[in-house]
Amino acid sequence: MNQIVDKALRGVALLKVSNIRHWTDRTFSFDCERPQGFRFRSGEFAMIGLIVDGKPLLRAYSIASPSWDDELEFYSIKVEDGPLTSRLQHLKEGDEIVMRPKPVGTLVHDALLPGKRLFLFSTGTGIAPFASVIRDPETYEKFDQVILTQTCRDVKELDYGKHLIESIKTHEFLPEIVGDKLTHIATTTREDSEQMGRMTDWIRDGRLAGAVGGDLNPESDRVMICGSMAMLKDHKEICEERGFVEGSNSEPGHFVIEKAFVD
Ligand code: A2P
Repeated sequence: MNQIVDKALRGVALLKVSNIRHWTDRTFSFDCERPQGFRFRSGEFAMIGLIVDGKPLLRAYSIASPSWDDELEFYSIKVEDGPLTSRLQHLKEGDEIVMRPKPVGTLVHDALLPGKRLFLFSTGTGIAPFASVIRDPETYEKFDQVILTQTCRDVKELDYGKHLIESIKTHEFLPEIVGDKLTHIATTTREDSEQMGRMTDWIRDGRLAGAVGGDLNPESDRVMICGSMAMLKDHKEICEERGFVEGSNSEPGHFVIEKAFVD
């Protein structure tokens, strides 16, 4: 981590990047140093980016690593003409990104009332905050069952999530904490795979209830949702039809939502 001397860069940290992985033509992930004293709650996001023309170009990114980790992980889409991602996708080992170390967000335990099952609904890179939440021991202290769903267009786009689940199974201390509480449901919508369809359809036609042992119910279930605006709207509608009340950091509820930011 470097000392910031430039006035334009005050308030941001420079963080060395490692472990860059290109998952598909459209997605990649990377790790970076965690600034000393930087604390966040699993599920939160921070502003990260690059220095362009002497100024920080920042976008909101969910932190994909859990709060106990020494490093920070981010999972990003690549947009050809996106001001930041068109540049960020060319990161190389040892390059530096900038981060404003002020994490915020609603996909956190503090915004949910106690419950028995935790549903984490995501599409595309919306899985990023849940990569953090499912590696946080607090999640398994608070819930008996944790169900992570990710829906993508193509099979290859599910690789990040599959690898994440495998990495939990072989982790030094997580398997003991997670036990058999975590269920991963990965579906595609535009390419044939073992499990197909939007999760909103799975909920409405009972496929999800069949897979996890009962329909969504505000008595026992809590929900976090992350994806596109259209996806958030449809999932929110489903929750509200069933009597779920939206929560926030100041007023915890039955479900919380956050846009998968970068475009
Ligand atoms: P579909 O292929 O049927 O549009 P995108 O890349 O457009 O953000 O989509 C990512 C995934 O989210 C796709 O599998 C897409 O399905 C799905 N999706 C898009 N809109 C919704 C929605 N309103 N509700 C649930 N899933 C959605």
